[in-house]
Amino acid sequence: MADESPLIRSLRAAVAAAPGDVPLRLHFADLLLAEGRNDEAVAEAAVALQHEPGDTDARALMVRAMGLPAAPAPTVAETPAPAPAPAPEPAPDEPAPNAPAPAPSFDWNAAEQQVQDLVGPRFLEDPQAADGDGTAGDAAAWDVDAPGSVRLADVGGMEEVKDRLEAAFLAPMRNPELRRLYGKSLRGGLLLYGPPGCGKTFIARAVAGELGASFLTVSLSDVLDMWIGASEKNIHDIFETARRQAPCVVFLDELDALGAKRSRTHHSGLRNVVNQLLTELDGIASGAGNEGVFVLAATNVPWDVDIALRRPGRLDRTLLVLPPDAAAREAILRYHLRERPIEAVDLGKLVKATEDFSGADLAHVCETAAEAALLDSARSGSVRLITTKDLLGAAKQIKPSTEPWFAAARNVAMFANEGGLYDDLLAHLKRKRKL
Ligand SMILES: Nc1ncnc2c1ncn2[C@@H]1O[C@H](COP(=O)(O)OP(=O)(O)O)[C@@H](O)[C@H]1O
Ligand SMILES: [Mg+2]
Repeated sequence: MADESPLIRSLRAAVAAAPGDVPLRLHFADLLLAEGRNDEAVAEAAVALQHEPGDTDARALMVRAMGLPAAPAPTVAETPAPAPAPAPEPAPDEPAPNAPAPAPSFDWNAAEQQVQDLVGPRFLEDPQAADGDGTAGDAAAWDVDAPGSVRLADVGGMEEVKDRLEAAFLAPMRNPELRRLYGKSLRGGLLLYGPPGCGKTFIARAVAGELGASFLTVSLSDVLDMWIGASEKNIHDIFETARRQAPCVVFLDELDALGAKRSRTHHSGLRNVVNQLLTELDGIASGAGNEGVFVLAATNVPWDVDIALRRPGRLDRTLLVLPPDAAAREAILRYHLRERPIEAVDLGKLVKATEDFSGADLAHVCETAAEAALLDSARSGSVRLITTKDLLGAAKQIKPSTEPWFAAARNVAMFANEGGLYDDLLAHLKRKRKL
């Protein structure tokens, strides 16, 4: 500004150099106000309040600059208020009798434009709602991860699973030629199933990493909990988000939360969700507008998944994720022991002693062993490290949590293997002589 006084000019520079210095900024605002430049003073006071929301001087200055009646005393918590003035407090929208009337000429739009680069937005914009169809709260319901955080190499062992994934999912996804060759038969999604805690979620993440794709996790039990009544729309929104983020893997975790086969589903809300999901899966199978959207799903109880979801073109390919094999157990144990005080641990022995343990069970073993060593140290008064013996002891004490799962799975594989849905499982049980 050409006619600006040198004092104001140098203060402006000082404030720019020390934007967080509230007293300095208020001094500057005071000078602006004294020159009748109220709008600018308001802007400065607003910035000061951004830095120090409770600052009483900044508030007072704001009130003066806006030509408003003096504000009531600041909240009690901040300043012990002196005895209240005898005059009754003015009603909020009625100017106090003695205070100057608010300057009618104050230009709110201009003031807002002035401060728009300096102060944060008053309301958080939900990025998911950019297209206008987001629903409050849906950002928290699913997360889109940036591509590539976990790779298949991070999954210890499980070579068979990785090979199947490569052949049944990754190779065709990576290679458009292959995809054309296989045509429609590859449109459907892949359903991972197996006992809990054995790496289904982990593997799904690794698949997304391999594809360099975004990864949209949808935990269906969460979905149903939080979206009573709006679930179909939100299922649709999930797939819309995926199409916008393509290439994107939509991972439907805990697919069984959709509750049993439709015939057994009395809850009509659930049926609508299943129907919406079927619509989305069929949309992906038909291709149009869905290039680059891949569906992975996981469940511990595939026999509870609505059979309609497993028809051709939908979640028609399955992949059995068994308890970690020896190499996987070693990787998982190494991971859980990496920050614990251990001494000469014989991992080979421990791996042998933990057959059928899930990843979660292995974590539990490590914790239990650490506890035992700690208790021992406390009892004896001399600190000792965690040994192989502690770990083997813990492994003996803990039953693999996959046992009940195999008991249930055995019945299904034997008596309800319609259409060979569970051939993998049968083969495994035979191999393990559990049949
Ligand atoms: N092969 C593996 N390599 C490394 N970590 C594994 C492996 N399998 C399971 N885990 C770990 O075990 C835990 C449980 O796995 P998770 O994927 O949540 O199981 P699920 O989804 O099958 O219930 C996770 O902390 C995971 O990182
Ligand atoms: Mg899981």
